[in-house]
Amino acid sequence: MTVDAMDDMPNMDSLIAALPSPTLIIGRTERVERLNSAAETLLGKNVAGRHFTTALRHPKLVDAVERSLLDGAARQISVQLVVHGSDAVYDVHLAMVQRSGLLLLSFQNVADIAQAEQMRRDFIANVSHELRTPLTAVIGFIETLRGPARDDAAARDRFLDIMAGEADRMNRLVGGLLSLSRVEADERVRPSARVDVRQILYTTLDNLAPLARDSGVTLCCDAGQAPLEVIGDADQLVQVFTNLVENAIKYGGADRSVEISLGEAAHDPVLRGPATEITVTDHGPGIEPIHLPRLTERFYRGDAHRGRAQGGTGLGLAIVKHILNRHRGRLKVASVPGQGAQFTVVLPPAPA
Ligand SMILES: Nc1ncnc2c1ncn2[C@@H]1O[C@H](COP(=O)(O)OP(=O)(O)O)[C@@H](O)[C@H]1O
Ligand SMILES: [Mg+2]
Repeated sequence: MTVDAMDDMPNMDSLIAALPSPTLIIGRTERVERLNSAAETLLGKNVAGRHFTTALRHPKLVDAVERSLLDGAARQISVQLVVHGSDAVYDVHLAMVQRSGLLLLSFQNVADIAQAEQMRRDFIANVSHELRTPLTAVIGFIETLRGPARDDAAARDRFLDIMAGEADRMNRLVGGLLSLSRVEADERVRPSARVDVRQILYTTLDNLAPLARDSGVTLCCDAGQAPLEVIGDADQLVQVFTNLVENAIKYGGADRSVEISLGEAAHDPVLRGPATEITVTDHGPGIEPIHLPRLTERFYRGDAHRGRAQGGTGLGLAIVKHILNRHRGRLKVASVPGQGAQFTVVLPPAPA
């Protein structure tokens, strides 16, 4: 390096001031020699010039600094600090600056990373739990069929039916999970096709006619004839309405009707503009208010026991939510317990 280039080198203060994450330097005197403003915000304004034991306070951090000053080795530790009254987790990197005797500490807030990790762990725990229940049943019946029920033809048929049902359930779970992961994967890619919501509704209702008939449910659709366009992914929108109408049939109760209506709102407060609204109304037991905010969480079943008996996975509304997010739309749910439920899909209309 030439002398000129050296002259151009900024000094230590301006270098660490340019770093976005909290950074400080401990000198040979074991005092905090420099810190940037992010570090001041984190540790307080008056730590400059203090001995590192009083400046840092956190025992784990002080210990790591002591050891790095002794052995000159770089380290990384994770500490929990209280920032403005709330807990935050930081990864702190310690590194000796070559031949200077200075120790550089940089802090990285890992709260978001930790939260994502936690969500991943919860998700795996949930999936395992959901799969284990039907699997345990199947394993139990296999044992029974090999042992006590070996020569009992009637029991065998019954158990095989139950096993087929449990296998179906696992199949639906895996199908739902794959569908959810596909939807999440392209959530940030806006759809680009102009599609007719009425056409999509009619396709959905055709698909569900057999289920409705078997459940003794009458589907009434008041969608008119004129096309009503949104920018969307037709397959995904069919998936949305299929989930909602299927729920209305499943949970709305046999021998009742389910109404599907289509309308336009001049101004939706959340979309901040005009909206196309599709409402699915049933006349079943409805949903208790405490469940409403959590319905779109994965695996959430309002009435877990009943939901499972009816083959629910709790993934349907989670998929609906992700698809609507992708479409810049939203889902509204209203219910008076005992009088049924109303699920409304709100979508921005296609520009004229
Ligand atoms: N129309 C409805 N009436 C009453 N409860 C409903 C209705 N739709 C959904 N729910 C409740 O919301 C839960 C989540 O629905 P969903 O995500 O579609 O999962 P699944 O149908 O697989 O159980 C259901 O288990 C049920 O308790
Ligand atoms: Mg469902």
